[in-house]
Amino acid sequence: MKRPDRLSIRAKREGYPARSVYKLKELDAKYRLLKRGNRVLDLGCHPGAWLRYAAQKVGKNGLVVGVDLKEPKGDYPGHVHAVVGDVLELDPESLKERWGPFHAVLSDLSPKLTGARSTDMARSLALNDKALDIALGTLKPGGLFLVKVFHGSGFEDFLKRARGSFQKTIVTKPKASSKRSREAYLIGMGPALR
Ligand SMILES: C[S@@+](CC[C@H](N)C(=O)[O-])C[C@H]1O[C@@H](n2cnc3c(N)ncnc32)[C@H](O)[C@@H]1O
Repeated sequence: MKRPDRLSIRAKREGYPARSVYKLKELDAKYRLLKRGNRVLDLGCHPGAWLRYAAQKVGKNGLVVGVDLKEPKGDYPGHVHAVVGDVLELDPESLKERWGPFHAVLSDLSPKLTGARSTDMARSLALNDKALDIALGTLKPGGLFLVKVFHGSGFEDFLKRARGSFQKTIVTKPKASSKRSREAYLIGMGPALR
């Protein structure tokens, strides 16, 4: 079994179920993504580190809705709602009617990896395309979209689509993201007016 690294140990000590929380914390500190009272959608929320952090940031007058194939770990305050389901089957209009519109749509979605790079990349891009559709269908004017991306085939097309969909787009790699990984995060700010 892999030995837990420094950030995983710190996450456990601070009550987060995954080290991924430090990527969101770092991006939030730099770009001020989450504010008190915000309504937030967290796509791919298991085991729940982003969900827990977002819940703390928005406070009890905000709302955090998490969606994943798996139930997040642990208990959450009343303004957090976990939906177990497949993001690929979500209808943005129904989401918006039930919970939205959202100030922020976060996606840390990762497909189950097969080890075959082209298959994994295609699956990741399909998830990101869907996350972008959901963001565009549920965000408030001026809202923001944060999505995990992987550099590789198809990434440039996704970037082009994102750039055409938001007033400002940034691609950044937080320090807490493994240097060996091809992952980065794209932030879309303010859906472009249609
Ligand atoms: C890296 S984890 C997310 C970690 C999370 N942000 C946290 O901080 O705890 C990626 C998640 O994407 C979920 N996922 C992958 N494909 C999905 C799909 N089609 N629908 C819903 N969730 C999916 C996986 O189940 C997994 O829990």
